[in-house]
Amino acid sequence: NSSQTPFDALGGEDVLSKLVDTFYRKVSQHPDLAPLFPNDLTETARKQKQFLTQFLGGPSLYSEEHGHPMLRARHMPFVITSIQAEAWLNCMERAMDDVGIEGVIREYMLERLSMTAHHMVNQPL
Ligand code: HEM
Repeated sequence: NSSQTPFDALGGEDVLSKLVDTFYRKVSQHPDLAPLFPNDLTETARKQKQFLTQFLGGPSLYSEEHGHPMLRARHMPFVITSIQAEAWLNCMERAMDDVGIEGVIREYMLERLSMTAHHMVNQPL
């Protein structure tokens, strides 16, 4: 219905949690991404679940705990080129395949995540 958020359309907390856990398993195996991340991704995944919940119109979990996301600033310590942006999006797309996220919500999320990922690029190739 008209009051349903993208977060609801995705399937809420359960589906988002599965998606993020699946995504970080792929990130930890990806040669262009793994070196940037800590070995233990527990806290990274917890923050990403909070962030994506609010990104998709659910409760503002990330900002309540961490303040304004300022995502580009928070990514400045890491060298991110279009290689990393595409790798990040590829991991997300494959995680969506595994979790079975299809249709309009998938296209909506990939379009917005693509813009956000490319906005994180902070180094030329
Ligand atoms: C944190 C890499 C794109 C959301 C991080 C961290 C790294 C990273 C290395 C720190 C992890 C840690 O120390 O726990 C990347 C790379 C990207 C990318 C290489 C490729 C473009 C994105 C996108 C989003 C996002 C598209 C949102 C949709 C976050 C959030 C955090 C984070 C919410 C936690 C920030 C905090 O510390 O509070 N990212 N990221 N990232 N990333 Fe990304």
